[in-house]
Amino acid sequence: MKQKIIFSFILSILTICSYGQPKTIGENNSSSALNLHIYITKQAEQRAKELVSQMTLEEKIDYISGPRSFYIRAIPRLGIPEIRLADGPQGIRNNTKSTLYPCGILSASTWNKELVRELGRGLGRDAKARGVSILLGPGVNIYRSPLCGRNYEYFGEDPYLTSEVASQYIQGVQEEGVIATVKHFAANNQEWSRHNVSSDVDERTLQEIYFPAFRKAVEEVQVGAVMDSYNPVNGVHATENSWMNIDILRKKWGFKGILMSDWSSVYSTVGAANGGLDLEMPTGKFMTKEKLIPAIKNGIVTEATIDIKVQHILQTLIAFGCFDMPKNSLSAIKDDTQSKETALKLAREGVVLLKNNHQTLPYRKGKTLVLGPNADIIPTGGGSGFVTPFSVISVYDGMRKIRGNEQVELLTDSTLYKDISHQIYTDDKFTHQGFKSEYYTTRNLSGALFLSAVEPQINYSWKYDAPFADMPADQFSVRWTGAYRADKNGTIQFQLAGDDGYRLFVNDKQITGDWGNHSFSTRSAFMEVKTGEVYRLRIEYFDNVGEATIKFRAGMMDEKHLTASLKQARNVIICAGFNSSTEGEGFDRPFALSHGQEYLINKVASLHDNVTVIVNAGGGIDFRNWGKNVQAIIMAWYPGQEGGQALAEIITGKISPSGKLPISIEEKWEDNPVFNSYYDNRNVPHKRVQYAEGIFVGYRGYDQTGKKPLYPFGYGLSYSNFAYSNMTVEKSGENCVKISFDIKNIGKTDAAETAQVYVCDIQSSVPRPLKELKGYEKVYLKRGETKHISITLTKEAFAFYDISSHQFIIEPGEFKILVGPSSENLPLATIITL
Ligand code: BGC
Repeated sequence: MKQKIIFSFILSILTICSYGQPKTIGENNSSSALNLHIYITKQAEQRAKELVSQMTLEEKIDYISGPRSFYIRAIPRLGIPEIRLADGPQGIRNNTKSTLYPCGILSASTWNKELVRELGRGLGRDAKARGVSILLGPGVNIYRSPLCGRNYEYFGEDPYLTSEVASQYIQGVQEEGVIATVKHFAANNQEWSRHNVSSDVDERTLQEIYFPAFRKAVEEVQVGAVMDSYNPVNGVHATENSWMNIDILRKKWGFKGILMSDWSSVYSTVGAANGGLDLEMPTGKFMTKEKLIPAIKNGIVTEATIDIKVQHILQTLIAFGCFDMPKNSLSAIKDDTQSKETALKLAREGVVLLKNNHQTLPYRKGKTLVLGPNADIIPTGGGSGFVTPFSVISVYDGMRKIRGNEQVELLTDSTLYKDISHQIYTDDKFTHQGFKSEYYTTRNLSGALFLSAVEPQINYSWKYDAPFADMPADQFSVRWTGAYRADKNGTIQFQLAGDDGYRLFVNDKQITGDWGNHSFSTRSAFMEVKTGEVYRLRIEYFDNVGEATIKFRAGMMDEKHLTASLKQARNVIICAGFNSSTEGEGFDRPFALSHGQEYLINKVASLHDNVTVIVNAGGGIDFRNWGKNVQAIIMAWYPGQEGGQALAEIITGKISPSGKLPISIEEKWEDNPVFNSYYDNRNVPHKRVQYAEGIFVGYRGYDQTGKKPLYPFGYGLSYSNFAYSNMTVEKSGENCVKISFDIKNIGKTDAAETAQVYVCDIQSSVPRPLKELKGYEKVYLKRGETKHISITLTKEAFAFYDISSHQFIIEPGEFKILVGPSSENLPLATIITL
């Protein structure tokens, strides 16, 4: 058994690290010790202090909440200007067009540190051009489950990879003089009921899995701002969680920047004021004069506590030069060609080739048919990460640019599914064309009928208005009924979209819907119909508050058209997946693609044998119903405005794919280590999700349970092959181990490869993962070329969090070092003794 001691690093076999007497890891690991750039200097602190001393109590309280969304208040008499903030991780949102970069999980899939740094610089430049001083990104929450609607914004399941990507991103943004905001602190790993569900996570798991990216952002790269999450952590809302905000973030990690709330994530005045929060956003609801002055008078909150908040905000703004940010007119802003180029480079490197049977790809010649819901658009995830770009290149556009118009055919969904609305009648007597509608002034289709009519289509965007004069603009509901008699056998696609709830019944059976209060979302369903049979349709809708929209479309698949197009095509690309209304902030998504998309893929696969499916998603999906039937699968995530160009270059073989998964993709959701602890799993009034899997998330969990994921962490195919050899390990400087090895491109194509280094503690006094990623490097190799790679592991690579000393520690003994192209393929291994 290994001894558990803290800790004299005695080296045997290999003399590796002379750490000296004893130690815990992470103590005094401040940026000054690391000799990194310090933004918040003593001078900035002093200037802020002087300003605070000139402010009245009222001014100070006003200053700690936003005057309106995305602004920090001006105090003209003290020369303090208004400060603009903007979302978010993949481009600048909020009233401006801007470069739509690939989403976060794609950036992580590039495994290219320099490129992510370039992304950060691009975002910083884009922000500055729009007068934005504080960028609300990156998002670094860990991917626990494929269902979380915001996975697309984050960097995957591994804390080491997430920390590396986040720190490059932050450095890039801040090099441009813009403050980055690392969010959402902490354990905001699901969107379902995010305001209410407490993430119940033990201390070690927080420290090893959910905190590292925040910690590195603060300790090593001096991030200027942190955003608290919506959810409670261990029963206490993040904005009131003084253990997280004060003991860990401020005292342990030394954070001197701005700690802001998420947009409406403050739930009490005294809790937030004393819990370490500096800035309530978007506007003051709890940290206001009306509520804080009595609390100060009663002595529950002190004025000094308010002073510290103002001090944090001002010293950060001063340090980053925000008082001098030029105020450009948003209308004059143009597309930035440099940013566009960065978006393209990221997409080229972050797209992951999952399957390529018999080298189906690249498609080198012949006509290509491009179809599917995402064929002629560039989808993105939804919510605050949504960006409006100046231009986009879809897969269809990209293919035409490379192959020419004649060689590429597009089959859009609206051509493939012929509208059948003219065949819908108010009832099964088939005398009046259209739907019968019934409007109610209640939310639940009850009470007196307000109005009934016959309507040819259901396609309404009432926005904030009422459907009719004298009806309320909120809290109303509508039912539409109709009958459809099929004039031939076939497949009908139903599409419904709305804000808020909607659902579709066929013959009184609900077949799809999203019946709840939510922003715009879409759902689709497929149904086989038989000639002469009658189908009774019922669509129900309600508006809660705010915008009101409902759209319905029904179309029959034009199989003749499909078969003819497939006959003429040598190659087929189906662009499937989610989009901003089916995956995004504020809701979780299903694991599987919609039934309709799976149906289409299988239909095409039964008629053609050269089929590639491009998937747009923020995480893993269910491949069981169709994956085996197609020849190639590409995970494109949400690849940004230039995504279609990058995908076409990969599909036609202009470049080799080089993205690797920053997640494990399970065969079925039940295989995921968090399956039993994802949703509310306790029958108590307050919703709580116990992170029962502890540190065993993602590949750490699959290694523990022995279940094999379908596509493992770190996996991704290339058009070439690589051989790993000649591994050596040596001491390198103080406290470090240098791992060296060769990679040779043994295939026929120039290509890039990412080598991954994992560490395994062979014997430990606490359960530890079988392996953990601790280093990686991406290299470009011409065919036949060999490169010698060296990766240095610091002492953190061997440590775990010890709950009795509340420190990271290393237990001396043997550690296995594994190197290879993915977490499940590690051809080089050696043992070292610390
Ligand atoms: C999101 C944040 C975002 C903020 C402002 C919130 O709903 O959770 O990530 O920065 O809105 O748009």
